[in-house]
Amino acid sequence: MPRIAYVNGFYVPHGEARVHIEDRGYQFADGIYEVCLVIDGRYWDLEGHLARMDRSLKALGIDAPMDRPSLEVVMRELLIRNRLKNALVYIQTTRGVALRNHAFPGVAVPALVMTAKRFNLDQSDAQAEKGVRVITTPDIRWGRVDIKSVSLLPNVLAKQAAAEVGASEAWLVRDGKVTEGSSSNAWIVDADGALVTHPKSHEILGGITRETAIACAEELQIRVCERAFTVEEAQNATEAFITSATNLVTPVIEIDGVKIGAGAPGPVAKRLRAAYKDRARRAR
Ligand code: PDD
Repeated sequence: MPRIAYVNGFYVPHGEARVHIEDRGYQFADGIYEVCLVIDGRYWDLEGHLARMDRSLKALGIDAPMDRPSLEVVMRELLIRNRLKNALVYIQTTRGVALRNHAFPGVAVPALVMTAKRFNLDQSDAQAEKGVRVITTPDIRWGRVDIKSVSLLPNVLAKQAAAEVGASEAWLVRDGKVTEGSSSNAWIVDADGALVTHPKSHEILGGITRETAIACAEELQIRVCERAFTVEEAQNATEAFITSATNLVTPVIEIDGVKIGAGAPGPVAKRLRAAYKDRARRAR
């Protein structure tokens, strides 16, 4: 069965899915995206993802490509056509196609693309059981990374720098503080056992997994402190981990070659990952 993508009103085989060369997403990275999980046939944390998508669109002055009920119809139809009950769905909206000119076109029809691929909550377990290594690199991104824009070149370069030394993620450092990872939020566990992560601001993407992890921590009666931390503090932390839709909660065992704690996934991150998966499975 071929993978099916949704492209501007049509369901097409993934290999044949095309957008116009003058789509402003291609020309200027003038667009936004969301990445959502589908668990047992249900979109997980849907409200959070769609609310963030609306905020991103509004911040860039891009009209919603369709109303919410229609969007949800397409999101469901995509799963049916791909026969997926557990999936990762990418939704991308750009300002649309127009002759190349930096200023917004007078008339623009927003373009909407959606893809789905198989995913299940357990597929990153092996990686989480070993833990991942991260490097740090300067955060050279623009000042509004709270917008989930498709303009990801600094993130791409940071992730590549990590990949080149066999690490899984790059933590981005601005003014001496870790903001977040190239495609995940960054966390440490302090000496008192509290979780520490950068506060929501224009300097990080407010992760939906981050929000749910905070809710899980509350349920587990683990304190959460939303403040920035330094690389040195992270290297001396008892534990570190990352969160994202694709990684869920994944322990970090090394930062720039320095082992975190015992150099193995810590108990707090493990409990939080288990609680997160449990909450995702329980949600109805
Ligand atoms: N990335 N920070 C950045 C820069 C991200 O790109 C992401 C997600 C996150 C975590 O957000 P969430 O918990 O809502 O997934 C934080 C997605 C998965 C991606 O680009 O593929």
